[in-house]
Amino acid sequence: MSNTNPLLDVSGLTKHFPIKGGFPIRRTVGAVQAVDGLDFQVAEGESLGLVGESGCGKSTTGRLITRLLEPTGGKITYRGQDITHAGRKGLAPIRSEIQMIFQDPYASLNPRQTVGKIISGPMEINDINPEGGREKRVRELLEIVGLNPEHFNRFPHEFSGGQRQRIGVARALALEPKLIVADEPVSALDVSIQAQVVNLLQKVQRELGIAFVFIAHDLAIVRHFSQRVAVMYLGKIVEIADREDLYGNPRHPYTRALLSAVPEATVDAEPRERIRLAGDVPSPINPPTGCRFRTRCWKATEKCATEAPTLVQVEGNKPGHLTACHYPETADTVPAPRLAKDPEAAA
Ligand SMILES: Nc1ncnc2c1ncn2[C@@H]1O[C@H](COP(=O)(O)OP(=O)(O)OP(=O)(O)O)[C@@H](O)[C@H]1O
Ligand code: SF4
Ligand SMILES: [Mg+2]
Repeated sequence: MSNTNPLLDVSGLTKHFPIKGGFPIRRTVGAVQAVDGLDFQVAEGESLGLVGESGCGKSTTGRLITRLLEPTGGKITYRGQDITHAGRKGLAPIRSEIQMIFQDPYASLNPRQTVGKIISGPMEINDINPEGGREKRVRELLEIVGLNPEHFNRFPHEFSGGQRQRIGVARALALEPKLIVADEPVSALDVSIQAQVVNLLQKVQRELGIAFVFIAHDLAIVRHFSQRVAVMYLGKIVEIADREDLYGNPRHPYTRALLSAVPEATVDAEPRERIRLAGDVPSPINPPTGCRFRTRCWKATEKCATEAPTLVQVEGNKPGHLTACHYPETADTVPAPRLAKDPEAAA
């Protein structure tokens, strides 16, 4: 892992959405702590998977990196340039280098535009004229993503969901990006075609050397795609590691719980008991003190309630494998109970 000169360097990244209330004068009465102090890097051409349950802040993170959202705190450095609060002008030179692919291929394509118009849109906006013209480039892109290049005059509704996501990929590739943030790019698709689209993204990543931040709900999808994986819980990264280390030696109880839901990912030879976490994720408006996972953790102690664990290389971790837990799991940790304890009892 080359952390000396990462493509993207994120430190202490925070996004709190203010909650307004009161009458007649509306004022800020609280905040949704959607993302709360993230540190991670993405090397050139690398794929980082970002995994966690609904509401843990994955999309917010993606939108912060692509600067669709303004961070509340922390720092985002892209190719050595601080872009944390860069405005339109500051972002202009790199706008084309960072692209996003969205979850819903239906909502993210304009139904009134032809595929050619959609894919060439970014070239038009950025006034880019490729050799041989934009139409030629559109045909090339359609071919790269596995669509018929002659179909550039068709409209999105003439394509299936999987094909539409391919159009989204072609559009993201139009400006030859260096980094693509893919926010659950296959979760809206039929299971039968998810693998095809993941394969396409993998081809794009490898052959074109594009770095990815691949956002997903579970560890199954990023397993074959991302060389490195970060697990998020309630606005924080609880564990980050190279793929082999994360799947083979998960140290955070939450990572273990998530992994137990992936059938083929066994830590040891014995088939593992599925860990079902009790209760829901607590509200990010009023997250638990100390370790945010403690209300659902079967190992929580008093210390977990008072001291927030920091993301560090705990004993037994390889370099680059960081875990935020006071009592990290080990290979011979007694298998977790089938049902974690009642969240009310720990709160
Ligand atoms: N614009 C907003 N204003 C207020 N709260 C927001 C806003 N956007 C997101 N949130 C809140 O921030 C938290 C994180 O949301 P986010 O969409 O980043 O989660 P996610 O991990 O992408 O979830 P999912 O898996 O459901 O897509 C949630 O509690 C969400 O309700
Ligand atoms: S710090 Fe405590 S509550 Fe948090 S994951 Fe570790 S053992 Fe569980
Ligand atoms: Mg999301």
